[in-house]
Amino acid sequence: MKRCWLVLAVLFPALVAVVPSHAKEIKIGLITPLSGDVKTFGESVRNSFLIAVEEANARGGVAGMKITYVIQDDKNDATEAANVANLLVNQQRVKAIVGSVTSKATIPVSDIIQAAKVPTISPTATNPKVTVADGKRKDYMFRACFIDPFQGAVMAKFSRETLKGESAAVLFDASNDYSKGIAEVFRDAFRKQGGKVAAFESYGKDDVDFSALLTKVKASGADVLFLPDYYNKVGLIAKQVQEKGLKVRLVGPDGWDSPDLVKIAGSAIEGGHFSNHYSPDDLRPEVVAWVKKYKEKHGQVPDALGTLAYDATNLLLEAIRKAGSDDPEKIREALASIKDFKAVSGKSTLDRNGDSIKSAAILKIEGGKQKFVRMVNP
Ligand code: PHE
Repeated sequence: MKRCWLVLAVLFPALVAVVPSHAKEIKIGLITPLSGDVKTFGESVRNSFLIAVEEANARGGVAGMKITYVIQDDKNDATEAANVANLLVNQQRVKAIVGSVTSKATIPVSDIIQAAKVPTISPTATNPKVTVADGKRKDYMFRACFIDPFQGAVMAKFSRETLKGESAAVLFDASNDYSKGIAEVFRDAFRKQGGKVAAFESYGKDDVDFSALLTKVKASGADVLFLPDYYNKVGLIAKQVQEKGLKVRLVGPDGWDSPDLVKIAGSAIEGGHFSNHYSPDDLRPEVVAWVKKYKEKHGQVPDALGTLAYDATNLLLEAIRKAGSDDPEKIREALASIKDFKAVSGKSTLDRNGDSIKSAAILKIEGGKQKFVRMVNP
């Protein structure tokens, strides 16, 4: 008997060491813009996806499976996004996907993963068409963030009630569903709040000279200028607003969230307000712990994209754990049934459209930094 124990004791560590390499693996994909015009979005998302996966693997994986992954760059381009989604589902045969990041890239991805029946969660894509098209739910598609009808209405109300805006001008990219969608929501909500929409003008995706449009804005007499686009374009427009000597309050949605916004716009963006998904100044312990962890690893405070990517990856891992399997259909069912998940950006319950019901944070750019103003509940 004694000998038997001895043999086991000697053998046991060896067995433990051997098990992981024979253990089952689950392969998941990440689609994120690592190059192109919104590359800071993609980098934050990749950083946080990796933190969540590494943490889970360090705990022994999920449902007895080690997580392996494939990361693809969609360059924030719709065609590129469709290509990499096809590659992930058809060639890499991933069981689930996190991504993509912008609505522009995620809408085409959602159609591909729906046809292939691969459960997918976008951390950050807020346009309604990501999960529902022509009134039909894409039931393999989920997201860890709120949607644009909510944030557009939040900023319209804020512009009226807090900034005391009487008349608004809206400039948007007609080729970008996110930009156009939220422009329309803001316009309608601002009117509903009793405000006037004095200018509603669009530009093209490659435009860099906004002088003619800003002349119209000036002539309209608007006191609020809503800019629903990503940080690159917003930075450029804000600079030209300043050069023209236009006196307007700048307001926008989550697309403003990048450390590069202030680098591009400089003082022109000072005093601007935008809606976002979280604030690093939030004192909830889960936020404090997360900000510390990310900072230690990447030397900077996580932006909303990074935070939502950590949440989205953990939501997916939780679903795999609940499913107890790598079967995409079971993972989809588990994702759909998640309630009150304790995400860093706030409690997450996925509604019947797979969208998260979440609060929005309003932030102000002050002294070149993002300052937390307040939370707004749905
Ligand atoms: N909501 C944006 C979109 O749908 C992406 C985004 C999210 C950008 C969060 C910045 C911060 O395209």
